[in-house]
Amino acid sequence: MSRKSFLGKSIVSIKDLTREDLDIIFEEADKMEQIIKSNKKPLDGKILAALFMEPSTRTRLSFEAAMHHLGGSVITVSDPKSSSAVKGESLSDTIRTVENYCDIIAIRHPLEGSARLAAEFSRVPILNGGSGAEEHPTQALLDLYTLLKELKTVEGKSIAMVGDLKYGRTIHSLAYILSKYNAVKLYFVSPPSLRIKAEIKNDLKEAGIEFHEVESLSEVIPLVDAIYMTRIQKERFPQEAEYEKVKDAYVLTKELLTFAKGPIPVLHPLPRVNEISYDVDDTKHAVYFKQMYNGVLVRMALLNLILGGEVK
Ligand code: NCD
Repeated sequence: MSRKSFLGKSIVSIKDLTREDLDIIFEEADKMEQIIKSNKKPLDGKILAALFMEPSTRTRLSFEAAMHHLGGSVITVSDPKSSSAVKGESLSDTIRTVENYCDIIAIRHPLEGSARLAAEFSRVPILNGGSGAEEHPTQALLDLYTLLKELKTVEGKSIAMVGDLKYGRTIHSLAYILSKYNAVKLYFVSPPSLRIKAEIKNDLKEAGIEFHEVESLSEVIPLVDAIYMTRIQKERFPQEAEYEKVKDAYVLTKELLTFAKGPIPVLHPLPRVNEISYDVDDTKHAVYFKQMYNGVLVRMALLNLILGGEVK
């Protein structure tokens, strides 16, 4: 495997990437800060289409910022109501249209399988920016990149994933990406109704990953080297009453973090609702702001690798 093997590649699922691929992406991400500071334009003349059929702040804007930093340009659908999807156009027809206008498409869509379908129809590479409750691979890449920066390695580390493990696509992709590393121990902290899917648990067992399902956040805090908080995904509950029952299940506070081993990193893909109290923001634990900056570097790395930008 080499940088070249990324040319023209779609990133649909984190499962499609090998450990070696991850090393190449992170090595590239390490070089991106220098591109931001310089006036280099490795993707001059290339166009990214950001096709966002669900709300987004970070994923879309960081993809767009990443493309601008690389000297490319961006066209965007940021509101599905402004696209022909509301007229009844199928996703495959939308893709066959948009591919004519760009060199790469970043897509977010409410349906599971949407990014895979898009990749099947598209002549240009597809980057999955979130496919329903299924996966969010570029988020997992930036989450892992952040964990590696904070912890040096994830091997032998215990990591808690907290909140909506059922509908949280970032959780699914993060669990899979971490399973590519040795001796990672996972604590899945959720209410019983929001446990992680059986299919993912089976895959983790097959990969030989140790994991524990627990309900209490306070019991887990002293045991772990990092905490990954998530929002309860209100929009994905079939009934609002079910959401109401679990919406305040976990609130991580500065007080609770005094029971941690030390200044362990707390991550969150954001947006947060109430699951991390604002008093955590000015502690050493708060890594979720750095995480967003790392998102720009990782998305730059992907665009540059896939579109063949040169870096010296
Ligand atoms: C996440 C998402 O969209 O899945 N946000 C993100 O991309 N940073 C998490 C969420 O919406 O809760």
